[in-house]
Amino acid sequence: MAVVDPLIELRGVNKHFGTLHVLQSIDLTVGRGEVVVVIGPSGSGKSTLCRAINRLESVESGEILIDGQPLPEEGKALARLRAEVGMVFQSFNLFAHKTVLANVSLAQIKVRKRKKEDADRRSRELLARVGEMINEVLEVMQQLARDGMTMVVVTHEMGFARSAANRVVFMADGRIVEDRAPEEFFTAPRSERAKDFLSKILKH
Ligand SMILES: Nc1ncnc2c1ncn2[C@@H]1O[C@H](COP(=O)(O)OP(=O)(O)OP(=O)(O)O)[C@@H](O)[C@H]1O
Ligand SMILES: [Mg+2]
Repeated sequence: MAVVDPLIELRGVNKHFGTLHVLQSIDLTVGRGEVVVVIGPSGSGKSTLCRAINRLESVESGEILIDGQPLPEEGKALARLRAEVGMVFQSFNLFAHKTVLANVSLAQIKVRKRKKEDADRRSRELLARVGEMINEVLEVMQQLARDGMTMVVVTHEMGFARSAANRVVFMADGRIVEDRAPEEFFTAPRSERAKDFLSKILKH
């Protein structure tokens, strides 16, 4: 996508973990003030991509520029960069309600010898609290986005992606497969990979 005022630029970025080609010729430009949500199946390279932007991972080839400057290798310049470039990771799909309820309840039934109904009630109370924390995090992030902070967000929270993202970057197998406006992506995904991913995740 054409970006007017680039803040983060990745050009032809490649990385392997052993024989696994985890970032495959990644080209991505994030404009100043943009909110880019990165989604995709587990293992597609989302975290590695974000870690590379913050230089928590080195890359083998290609360029990463922040505000026109190549990522510093080390030292004070890197510390300054890290002070400016924060990271946000979310994996809310871990809270897919049924699985969690069953898991949380199981421990109470087995260990605390609670009855299933009591355990489920208690589990629901705890999960509601976690749900409230998730919403608070999302609200803070939406506020930061409104304040103009540039964000690259890895999330499994599709509601957040739809409401806060300027762009959705969909990754699969180390590649950026789609880079689109959220409404376009969610209503008319082009790739089979994205269609498959959405059909699974939206069922939760
Ligand atoms: N330090 C590492 N050493 C070896 N392999 C790694 C390492 N970090 C990640 N991988 C592998 O690289 C691939 C991409 O991992 P990554 O964590 O970037 O995926 P992800 O898209 O963030 O997945 P998830 O949605 O589960 O967080 C996976 O196959 C993972 O097992
Ligand atoms: Mg990850």
